[in-house]
Amino acid sequence: MDFAPYIRDIEDFPKPGVVFKDITPLLKNPFAFQKAGEALLGFTSNMKIDKVVGVDSRGFIFAPMLAEKLGAGFVTVRKSGKLPYKTISEPYDLEYGTGTLEIHSDAIEAGERVLVHDDVLATGGTARAVCKLVEKLGGEVVQCNFLIELTFLNGAEKIKEYQKEVLLQY
Ligand code: PRP
Ligand code: HPA
Repeated sequence: MDFAPYIRDIEDFPKPGVVFKDITPLLKNPFAFQKAGEALLGFTSNMKIDKVVGVDSRGFIFAPMLAEKLGAGFVTVRKSGKLPYKTISEPYDLEYGTGTLEIHSDAIEAGERVLVHDDVLATGGTARAVCKLVEKLGGEVVQCNFLIELTFLNGAEKIKEYQKEVLLQY
């Protein structure tokens, strides 16, 4: 299925000069929403996955469904100050800002096979920081998958040591 008709460009959001890919038209369409979930799931067919990591906040839309279908646990990576228990953190740069990402220190066991999911791969700063957090806990990132890759921002380069899958490239 072609998902492009369900992605909308928003100019100058959240900052001047950024053309933001808005996925909400896809999410609100029952057929496109279901097909996008199935397509993401197809990226990991026959793979053994112990944990699916979803990235705050739009990574939380599909990651729990992927975890449930894969028989894996769901783990959240959150922006700083949101997680209640002991955390480890990693600074990151993204297309339109900087920040710190955190994960609970007991979220992943050493040796676990981890799928990282987010909606968009832009500069790759976010995804790279998430993979570093997983590895700090001893997890193995077996795939990073995304709905959208903005190829002109070269995010793939930042996560080149990991397997990457995307539904739509711009
Ligand atoms: C967006 C997007 C990714 C990240 C990609 O999240 O959902 O997580 O930016 O950018 P990068 O590849 O340049 O790092 P954002 O920080 O806007 O948070 P949100 O999902 O809470 O809106
Ligand atoms: N759309 C959604 N999320 C994003 C974008 C975008 O264009 N760039 C970085 N994160």
